[in-house]
Amino acid sequence: MTNQSKQKVHAARKAIEYVEDGMVLGLGTGSTMDVFLDLLGERVQAGLQIKGVPTSVKTEQKAKQLGIPLTTLSDHPKLDLAFDGADEIDPDFQLTKGGGGSLLREKMVDVTAKQFIVVADESKMVNQLGAFPLPVEVVKFGWDSIREQLEALGCDAVLREVDGLPFETDNDQFIIDCHFHQIENPHMLRDQIKSIVGVVEVGLFLDMTDIVLVGVDEEVI
Ligand code: A5P
Repeated sequence: MTNQSKQKVHAARKAIEYVEDGMVLGLGTGSTMDVFLDLLGERVQAGLQIKGVPTSVKTEQKAKQLGIPLTTLSDHPKLDLAFDGADEIDPDFQLTKGGGGSLLREKMVDVTAKQFIVVADESKMVNQLGAFPLPVEVVKFGWDSIREQLEALGCDAVLREVDGLPFETDNDQFIIDCHFHQIENPHMLRDQIKSIVGVVEVGLFLDMTDIVLVGVDEEVI
């Protein structure tokens, strides 16, 4: 197991300690959340009573395989806790997310929780957001015009592809990855991007995070 994998396990174990009987949880997406889901599945098999709202089809499928009971935002518009990974975390707990392409559902779920807990390995901590390309979910119609408007904000904007074909989100939309390298003012940039017609959501998760659990080699900080 790599150091990074060990750190994910340490952070996920700590995150599980926040879960109590009867809670309704937001279940995030990504490799760190996969570790968390495995641990949660074990707890459920041992008798823990919780329900989860998944943030992606991938998480939904994994949770079902693990026997984790699922529900919806319609049935539970206010969640007790939401757990999710991150691609970048700055010192003010502002995040970049969407590296796995699930940013829209993640933001919809994470924002409804009484507490949003970010679970990550040490590599995700940065002094300033931007080295990780910022994912922006856009409608397919006129996507290239949206890409040009994103570039006008000072980035290289690249349509995400998998095996030479455009990546499609769970919501049947495209992702444009914006290479800003440094994001000086995340709030202003979020507002500028969201004002482009055809942008569905941007992977800047600002002023949402309550707790960050970062796995380091032998512990969690
Ligand atoms: C999914 O779209 C992302 O927002 C993930 O939460 C983020 O990429 C973290 O994933 P890892 O835990 O795999 O690094």
